[in-house]
Amino acid sequence: MSLLHRGIHRLGYAWIAAKDSRLLKTREFYTRELGLLETGSEPHRVSFRCWHEPYKFSFVVDHRGTPGLVEIGFHVRDDNDLETFQQKLTAAGVMVDRADANSVLQGLGKSLAFTVPAGPRIRLFATMDLLGYVTGYEGPDWVAPKALRDTAAPLNINHVAFTSPDPVQASAFFSDVLGFLVSETVVDEAGKTISSLLFRMAKNVGGQEVAIYPGKEVKLHHVAFTKEDASDVMADGYYLRSDGVTIDLLGPLRQPYGNTFSLYFYDSNGIRLELCSGGRMTEVHPEIQPVVWSKAHLREALSYYDEALVPEEFFLPCV
Ligand SMILES: [Fe+2]
Repeated sequence: MSLLHRGIHRLGYAWIAAKDSRLLKTREFYTRELGLLETGSEPHRVSFRCWHEPYKFSFVVDHRGTPGLVEIGFHVRDDNDLETFQQKLTAAGVMVDRADANSVLQGLGKSLAFTVPAGPRIRLFATMDLLGYVTGYEGPDWVAPKALRDTAAPLNINHVAFTSPDPVQASAFFSDVLGFLVSETVVDEAGKTISSLLFRMAKNVGGQEVAIYPGKEVKLHHVAFTKEDASDVMADGYYLRSDGVTIDLLGPLRQPYGNTFSLYFYDSNGIRLELCSGGRMTEVHPEIQPVVWSKAHLREALSYYDEALVPEEFFLPCV
């Protein structure tokens, strides 16, 4: 008997907007500093993938007058899943926009998009152009390509974090309608959820594809990429800082909430990014239970060693 994981099976991409009219600074930052591979460009748009990813893109930047999170893309198994989601979303009273292949983003198959209540715009797709590993599939060297070795060169996109005026509602929608499971949650004194990390993939790095933080509006908080281990993240911190990249908060930090070792910093457009390693081992199984943090211990949950960290400041969105 084969295992069949229906529905969403991976985080496909983060699509953001920034003010960078010719996207020259964006290209420079993401290829020469972060170490992504440019895989497509259109007027006012550039797309990238990480060197360990086989699909055409996982990160898209548009030049627009208003910076922010455009949408998050999730890959579903097949067209049947798209149909099932259309029915489920319609039954939940959510308006769905369907789009033909290559009409929204080059290389993306047909898709459907909708807005999560108190959350971001989401697009579901069943196919994306598959370029294959840059290392090839036959006896690959699992090391960053030589051209990227003086950059951070993360392995893959890990998760997207956004703020929500109603984390309970947004989190419930991801669980009930989109089939995510809660990996970790932060509750206030009354037991109400103020933040949660959710996942759909069994994986041992990050344990989350979506992070919901409290905030006045739905805004981008950060996009995270995977690194192999904490020493990797620490070294990247040195190099990024040495290159003049603005490091966020207090530098590399041990983050029990999500169980990662993380570094937060800003791209050339003021978009907050994260490099992370570690994470809770998650699996899509009915017996998995969320880790629960109380608001009273939020500072330690967000940064184990940094007593100066202010949780309310940590949750501030970037754009
Ligand atoms: Fe994160």
